This record gives sequence, structure tokens and C-alpha cells, in this order.
Amino acid sequence: MSTPQIDSKEFRNALGQFATGVTVITTLDKDGNKAGMTVNSFSSVSLEPMLVLWSLAKTAKTYDAFNETERFAIHVLNSDQQAISNQFASRGSDRFENIEFTEGHGGVPVLQDYSAVFQCEIEARYEGGDHIIMVGRVVDFDNKCRPPLIFHAGQYADLDLPVAV
Ligand SMILES: Cc1cc2nc3c(=O)[nH]c(=O)nc-3n(C[C@H](O)[C@H](O)[C@H](O)COP(=O)(O)O)c2cc1C
Repeated sequence: MSTPQIDSKEFRNALGQFATGVTVITTLDKDGNKAGMTVNSFSSVSLEPMLVLWSLAKTAKTYDAFNETERFAIHVLNSDQQAISNQFASRGSDRFENIEFTEGHGGVPVLQDYSAVFQCEIEARYEGGDHIIMVGRVVDFDNKCRPPLIFHAGQYADLDLPVAV
């Protein structure tokens, strides 16, 4: 079967119509160095057992760290954390500069601020084209119930929350 010619920019733009939250995912590499990146491919998978997934670009600077780790922490960002989203997506800078964190399971950095956090152990990794699909088993979580940071069509967006009646 021949593959139709698809403009990858148009494909990205179409995918971008799917509004998401924004997460920062952190880990330690095999030498114990902190690593982290901004991710919006996060999704819930299973309640029992508690499983979640996200996809990791094979080209990411942090690819080796995440591909080799047994643990990571997923922070769902709140609407005040756009700068932190940008910092963890940036190239060439120390992504943890001026970031407050504590040590979670296995020493993985857990940010002070978030809407929710899911500390995970790796359950499975699957090939997904130019990404690796990472499935995490949640071993601990916390929920601060903050308004979410939203990402849509390549931009951060405000969410007009319904007024409680
Ligand atoms: C809102 C947002 C969502 C992102 N989601 C993902 C994602 O799901 N998976 C991924 O591998 N990279 C994602 N990225 C890109 C990385 O955060 C990072 O910018 C990219 O890996 C480039 O940095 P690096 O190659 O130097 O690591 C996202 C970036 C932004 C701003």
C-alpha cells in the first residue's frame, strides 16, 4: 500500500486542535543527574492498576535519561506555571535553575508547585515511530486541585471555567 503524501506541518497543526493540559516530567539519569522536560502527550490508561502514559521523542536531549530510568514524576502544571513549561521545553539552559523541588521516590526531583503529581515506576516502553511510548505505574500521587495550564494550537490558552451555581 502506498503512503499518501502528507504535509507533516499540516499534520502537526491538525493534532494541535486537540487541547491538552501541560506536564513537566522529571527523572534522574543513570549518573544521578536531574533531567526533565515539558510534555503534553500525557494520558491516563488504567485505574486498577494505576497506569498512565506519555510519549518521548527519540530526538529529545533527555531521551537517554528517560529511556534508561526506572522512575519518573509527572507534574500537571497549573495556570500560573507557563514560565516553568517554557523553561523545561527550552534548549541549552539548566532546566532546574531557580526551580524548587524535593526528592521523591528513588530521589527523583518532585517540584514544589503543581496541580497534581504522579510518581511512577516504569511499567513498559513501546516503540511508537519517532517516539517511545512510556507507560508508568503510579506509586504515589497528590492533588492540589489548581486551575490548569492549557495548550492548544501551539499556544497556551485560558480556560473559562464554568461559574459554580
Ligand atoms: C507544550 C509542550 C508540550 C510538549 N510535549 C512533548 C511530548 O509530549 N513529548 C516530547 O518528547 N516532547 C514534548 N515537548 C518538547 C520538549 O519539551 C522539548 O522542548 C524538546 O524535547 C526540545 O528540547 P531538547 O530536544 O533539547 O530536549 C513539548 C513541548 C511543549 C512546549
